Amino acid sequence: MKVTVFGSGYVGLVTGACLAEVGNKVICVDVDPAKIDLLNSGGVPIYEPGLTDMVKRNREAGRLMFTTDAKTGVDFGQIQCIAVGTPPDEDGSADLQYVLAVAESIAEHMNGFKVVVDKSTVPVGTGDKVAARIRETLTKRGAKIDFDVVANPEFLKEGAAIGDFMKPERIVVGTENPRSIRVMRELYGPFNRNHERLLFMDIRSAELTKYAANSMLATKISFMNELSNIAEILGADIEKVRIGIGSDPRIGFQFIYPGCGYGGSCFPKDVQALEKTALEVGYRPELLHAVEAVNHRQKELLFNKISNYFDGRLRGKTVALWGLAFKPNTDDMRAASSRTLMEALWDAGASVRAFDPVAREEAERIYGQRGDLHICGNADEALEGADVLAVVTEWIEFRSPDFQEVREKLNYPAIFDGRNIYDPQAVTSAGLIHYSIGRRPANPA
Ligand SMILES: NC(=O)c1ccc[n+]([C@@H]2O[C@H](COP(=O)([O-])OP(=O)(O)OC[C@H]3O[C@@H](n4cnc5c(N)ncnc54)[C@H](O)[C@@H]3O)[C@@H](O)[C@H]2O)c1
Repeated sequence: MKVTVFGSGYVGLVTGACLAEVGNKVICVDVDPAKIDLLNSGGVPIYEPGLTDMVKRNREAGRLMFTTDAKTGVDFGQIQCIAVGTPPDEDGSADLQYVLAVAESIAEHMNGFKVVVDKSTVPVGTGDKVAARIRETLTKRGAKIDFDVVANPEFLKEGAAIGDFMKPERIVVGTENPRSIRVMRELYGPFNRNHERLLFMDIRSAELTKYAANSMLATKISFMNELSNIAEILGADIEKVRIGIGSDPRIGFQFIYPGCGYGGSCFPKDVQALEKTALEVGYRPELLHAVEAVNHRQKELLFNKISNYFDGRLRGKTVALWGLAFKPNTDDMRAASSRTLMEALWDAGASVRAFDPVAREEAERIYGQRGDLHICGNADEALEGADVLAVVTEWIEFRSPDFQEVREKLNYPAIFDGRNIYDPQAVTSAGLIHYSIGRRPANPA
């Protein structure tokens, strides 16, 4: 099939590459000329395991192309995917300007039937808005051309995006148009061979399904974070509690890890956007509001612990920071807990020596050169001259450090373990104080 994908970010590029991988011809359109130049010269603008090879392979085979020219894109595919960003607006609602701009571009250039597939995460009712924008633009052109708008929310996880796309747990498709149902069946046929994964539904339910999934996952995390704070005050160990409840299959072990808050481009903005949608239709979503409020507080927790350790005297202190990305295996720092911590430390007059296996460039892009941020080449280097260590991303390479060496390098014997990745006894045995998220401290060595 011939497919056009608008937006070459985490979702658009993975979608384009994976659709090309199974034999489709795909053109990716992006408004960022630097991104398209890089892609056309064989580079990949984001870190996503396996993506560089897949893009290269399909580009060289002539199945994957890149352009900034919307007309070329619209002419190309019978299927027009929208995979542009839907960042939070000032008030927390989803900003639809990029989605609607693509709808307009499609309508400006289309000359025949198109299936417009929305893969961006968009509030309920956006399908109608996209259709209205296309109709208005066609009317201005004096053109009468048939089209259908389909909601096809994306469930891939950064860091495992290719596996998720190639072997999806489910493919949600919101359309009741028989012609579009046929097209979408054909498009997803190669990903649907093992058993039926396509879930067809009306467009509004499909749009809501994406928000429901992310809000449910965020709720699990905030619930555990709330509980970890209670456990800490009560002298219980949240790790024991986690295992105690996770072994109940109705609860399960996934997504119940306490930590220093969730970040990324999805959970924070999607929970807020769903809350906003509910408020707009006159419903006060108490639970969704609390999920975000708990997360907000949780992201401040590490700073508060570090500040307490130094009795509020952080001016001139240096914190070694392991992890910048919002989670392992990605360079994405959108809404990352590392940012909340660093910014609070800077405000308090402290400086940061940070290391992340892949997010260095992203951190430099966001923060530029500044005297109170030194981005290091490895984890050991971050410890040099540092007063204490904070761990905010559970990268595998941070999991088993030589605690003796950490103790020797730090000026003060304290580790702030924002993801509970260390065994309190192992840390304490090395003469370090282990500050965790709701764990019971081990007995001193
Ligand atoms: N990142 C994820 O893990 C993930 C997972 C599922 C769903 N989503 C959703 O998918 C959507 C995209 O997310 P992302 O993380 O890929 O965003 P992103 O910011 O990485 O990429 C968006 C891209 O769209 C481009 N763009 C903006 N306007 C455009 C236009 N008019 N025409 C062509 N390109 C344009 C931007 O230049 C950018 O490259 C969002 O709605 C997000 O919520 C993201």
